[in-house]
Amino acid sequence: MNPFLKYINGTLCLAGKPLHPVAARFGTPVYIYSKEVINEKLLELRENFPDGTIFHYAVKANTNPQILKFIRSKKIGADVVSLGELKRVLKCGFKPNSIVFSGVGKSEEEIRFAIKKNILLNIECLSEALRVQKLATSLKKAARVSLRINPDVDADTHPYITTGFRENKFGMAQEELIEVSQKLSQSSCVIVEGLSFHIGSQRLSDRPYVDAFSKLSEVVNALKASHTHFKHINMGGGFGIPYQMSEKPILLSEIARAAKEFTRKWGLELHCEPGRYLLAQSGVLVTLIEYIKKTQAKNFAIVNTGMHHLARPALYGAFHNILPLKQGRGSIIRYEIVGPICESADAIGKGRDLHELNEGEFLAVCDVGAYGFVMASNYNLQPLPKEILV
Ligand SMILES: Cc1ncc(COP(=O)(O)O)c(C=O)c1O
Repeated sequence: MNPFLKYINGTLCLAGKPLHPVAARFGTPVYIYSKEVINEKLLELRENFPDGTIFHYAVKANTNPQILKFIRSKKIGADVVSLGELKRVLKCGFKPNSIVFSGVGKSEEEIRFAIKKNILLNIECLSEALRVQKLATSLKKAARVSLRINPDVDADTHPYITTGFRENKFGMAQEELIEVSQKLSQSSCVIVEGLSFHIGSQRLSDRPYVDAFSKLSEVVNALKASHTHFKHINMGGGFGIPYQMSEKPILLSEIARAAKEFTRKWGLELHCEPGRYLLAQSGVLVTLIEYIKKTQAKNFAIVNTGMHHLARPALYGAFHNILPLKQGRGSIIRYEIVGPICESADAIGKGRDLHELNEGEFLAVCDVGAYGFVMASNYNLQPLPKEILV
């Protein structure tokens, strides 16, 4: 599963670094991230995608300022979805021309701020295009935009994280997109720089990307025929990671091949917005076992983290591998790993077969570098976990 997590001399290590001393020093619950893993994942992306591909890290996956600064230092741009994210990436040193502002519900305040800072806006519908046009005119400043198409492909992922199917709220159907481009072409205040799509998150198959690229030729043809000039195609993110043994890693090379063919054919720059792929395997959430509770039906390991710190299991039924920091011995017992929150949904892992656990031991919840801490809350007025970058 996660190739960066291994036991060395009986101690769980992330990219070769033992986790136990970090948890013991800083206390739990604690998100521990590895720079080395982020760097490795970045190299994997760069090796697979053609030279000249422009990456914008999808900041929603993890907004930790140290991580943002590290990613920026690797000459990666940012994809943001709110004014909060936009202000944070600017503060972390991202250059305005390396930032894309996506999202279906941008407010007037958000659009005004983005236009003033010369940020590329990803337009998601006709009303938004008209709002951008109106605000750019009143500010007497050109707005840079790209148009987001909904390619209507089945991303074959959890329904909460599919975005490129016609029933989703994201992007425009071809007819609407052509109408928007025609309206904007009459305005000197809006410059269309690109076309974008994003088909969903946690994709493990290359098929939806290949399908999306083959569908896009039609819309590019129509735009070219109506003399809309644009220079890039942004394929979004969505590359998944294997959270479970049964899952196979995504074949980035196949996606890159389809993207390369497409960009060559139409003479376009390729942009890409990975989030989860870059960050997920770089992080673990280390937690302490407070109690072992045996009932007639189950064995519970009650830990000091839960759905308030890692929402994915309760929200999507997501699976995260759970490993003890000290390699287990003894008999195998089936556990429910649950948190302190007053909800039965508060389970981090259900039915996990682990060597016998003891109170006071540490467990690592794996692959939580993306969509982990960013979704954490103070529910039940619990404090937030710490974050440490090693
Ligand atoms: C427009 C856009 N780009 C990129 C991403 C990043 O997706 P992922 O973290 O799956 O790579 C998302 C996630 O929903 C998105 O909506």
